[in-house]
Amino acid sequence: MARKRALTGIQPSGVPHIGNLKGMIEPALQLQETHEPFYFIASYHALTSTKDATLLRDYQREAALSFLAFGLDPDVTSLFLQQDVPEVCELSWILGCHVNTGVLERAHAYKAARDAGREINAGTFNYPILMAADILIYDSHAVPVGKDQKQHVEMARDMAAGMNHRYGAEIFVLPEPLIKAEVATVPGLDGRKMSKSYGNTLPLFLPPKKLRKLVMKIVTDSKGVDEAKDPGSCNVFALYELFATADEQADLADRYRAGGLGYGHAKQALFEAMDRFLAEPRERYAELSADPEQVDRVLAQGAEKARGIAQHTMSRVRGAIGLGPAR
Ligand code: TYM
Repeated sequence: MARKRALTGIQPSGVPHIGNLKGMIEPALQLQETHEPFYFIASYHALTSTKDATLLRDYQREAALSFLAFGLDPDVTSLFLQQDVPEVCELSWILGCHVNTGVLERAHAYKAARDAGREINAGTFNYPILMAADILIYDSHAVPVGKDQKQHVEMARDMAAGMNHRYGAEIFVLPEPLIKAEVATVPGLDGRKMSKSYGNTLPLFLPPKKLRKLVMKIVTDSKGVDEAKDPGSCNVFALYELFATADEQADLADRYRAGGLGYGHAKQALFEAMDRFLAEPRERYAELSADPEQVDRVLAQGAEKARGIAQHTMSRVRGAIGLGPAR
């Protein structure tokens, strides 16, 4: 039986971090065993916030390297840049003509920007439409994401169902978000969701010394060394759970509850567990960084496959809505 397609994306609007890794990259890479994966770098989406050509280029490379360093197999997964399949912009326009602005006004990301009084460009307002186009153009069934993207995937599903209904045809597959409960929202240094836009991240490929420095900055309560502590409400422990073995977690939790363990010790334990986990991907990252042609080849191969599927979907869409057949 043909495998179902999995699709997801990451915005090159900053350096990928532990929240991206645990919330999306790792779960997405696990789907290599069961699905037909298409993973891409959402550069058009990043343009809503990043207006620096050099930075955008660097962040695109970092995103590609992150997938590859953590085990993306280019023979199984198509990895590509969003802009190498410009057909998504056509689909985005078509979908946008079928969505009421009221739906977009309810998007969490838009509401957060509006409530914070930030300037909102048209790209930011239309962001969920382009994201729906990304998902629907590849007939994606499964969309592995962190919790913050759930609403966007649900909007894509609604747009797909709306189009199928209006044109009385199975134009689009209805996608499902795949969210792992234990990593749905990875906390950042300040306890809020780890996010490029909050500046509270632990980037994936820092040299160990710099990583340790950041880990030491994680915000905790002000309990003294001798006091008993609650692992269940501690950011340091929440991150430790993502990297330590079950025995190590049980051991540290006991030491929290017993008192006599300072947060500095807990942070050191977290740093060591992370450093151990990141050692191998860091090496792979260094190798790949030295071989940009190899990364370009992977992206070109992924784009070719993705574009073929997108063009196929677009002729179906154009036909169904009265724009086709294409000449
Ligand atoms: P982005 O670039 O913000 O994040 C990439 C992925 O990482 C997840 N994530 C987290 N998960 C758990 N805890 C965190 N602290 C955390 N921070 C980030 C995100 O949920 C996401 O899955 N709109 C998307 C990019 C996109 C996309 C798509 C995704 C564009 N088109 C189509 C899926 C399908 C975004 O901004 O992700």
